[in-house]
Amino acid sequence: SAPVTLAVIPGDGIGPEVTAEALKVLEVASPVTFESTRYDLGAERYLATGEVLPDSVLAEIREHDAILLGAVGGKPNDPNLPPGILERGLLLRLRFELDHYVNLRPSRLFPGSVSPLAEHVLERGDIDFVVVREGTEGPYTGNGGALRVGTPAEIATEVSVNTAYGVERVIRDAYARAEKRPRKKLTLVHKTNVLTNAGSLWWRLFEQVGAEHPDVTTDYIHIDAAMIFMATDPARFDVIVTDNLFGDIVTDLAAAITGGIGLAASGNVNPDRTAPSMFEPVHGSAPDIAGQEKADPTAAILSGALLLDHLGHADAAAAIEAAVLADLAERAPGTSRRTSEVGDAIAARL
Ligand code: NAD
Ligand code: IPM
Ligand code: MN
Repeated sequence: SAPVTLAVIPGDGIGPEVTAEALKVLEVASPVTFESTRYDLGAERYLATGEVLPDSVLAEIREHDAILLGAVGGKPNDPNLPPGILERGLLLRLRFELDHYVNLRPSRLFPGSVSPLAEHVLERGDIDFVVVREGTEGPYTGNGGALRVGTPAEIATEVSVNTAYGVERVIRDAYARAEKRPRKKLTLVHKTNVLTNAGSLWWRLFEQVGAEHPDVTTDYIHIDAAMIFMATDPARFDVIVTDNLFGDIVTDLAAAITGGIGLAASGNVNPDRTAPSMFEPVHGSAPDIAGQEKADPTAAILSGALLLDHLGHADAAAAIEAAVLADLAERAPGTSRRTSEVGDAIAARL
């Protein structure tokens, strides 16, 4: 069959380190040949050329079957790197332009990985939920501004954009995903008691679309209380649907309770397939450990599994997951392997 074209954006910090391992595993696991093109975008390119994501590069990336991304973002407070320049100009631009409205972030406590949650919490059931985070709207759109900057009268606003179109499509996707899971439960997480404009839109559409899915059990929790339950009773969650900013925060906590940020995978999915979807670990460029071969590549490797699944290779995706599970089960507590050793060990099981 024809090769699958992959745009690879290793990015900054530990991005290139973990991406190399994800590609290593993808190459052994995939039933199809990959034709990958590497795009050197990120801090280095910006600092050398001033370019973040040239239109011509975006146009090329758009022609691929899928995108694999490491992480972007420089060291905090680098005087040469304006805050957000890469996050907004590269990562969010890709998500917005390629219409990645479903930011899919599964969370499972795999046997062998260690959760900081107490025994009695874990005894209540398996942690196995997926966050469907809206990916193109909310306060991420750059709507807002700053007035009288640097004066005592400064006003800064980041307006959260919520459109009926955008909210309905992500809610529809979340119901469809809940329907395919054994527990068929969907929880809306928002803050309808305070964010009453956006909240009423989310709640109304959640109910309206829910009427078409009588087999899905629904639940609503305010974001603050949802964080209580995520730490005290995470087994209550199956599928969570939420907005862009809440979803960002929720998924770092979800990672922390299921073995750590080094295991959390994600897909920026365009369910309509009008543009390639993009797969990346939930974590960032981790400048504190970059270049030391300390990064755990498992999140990037599992993101590769999500990529294969999206491209229709569910068996190969499951094989990667099984290899990761076996590796996790044998990870001796207190020991650490180099980034490439973890990749080698997982690849060797395939
Ligand atoms: P981070 O996720 O990069 O790091 C948080 C902590 O987790 C650090 O202590 C780091 O060492 C650790 N960590 C992260 N990934 C790890 C891994 N694979 N193995 C072991 N430890 C790991 O978050 P941050 O420090 O807030 O952000 C650093 C930079 O990354 C910033 O510029 C930020 O904007 C950017 N960022 C990018 C993305 C992305 O590209 N998707 C995501 C988050 C943050
Ligand atoms: C993530 C990151 C990004 C986000 C940033 C870097 C724009 O934190 O992928 O979770 O907030 O979505
Ligand atoms: Mn995040």
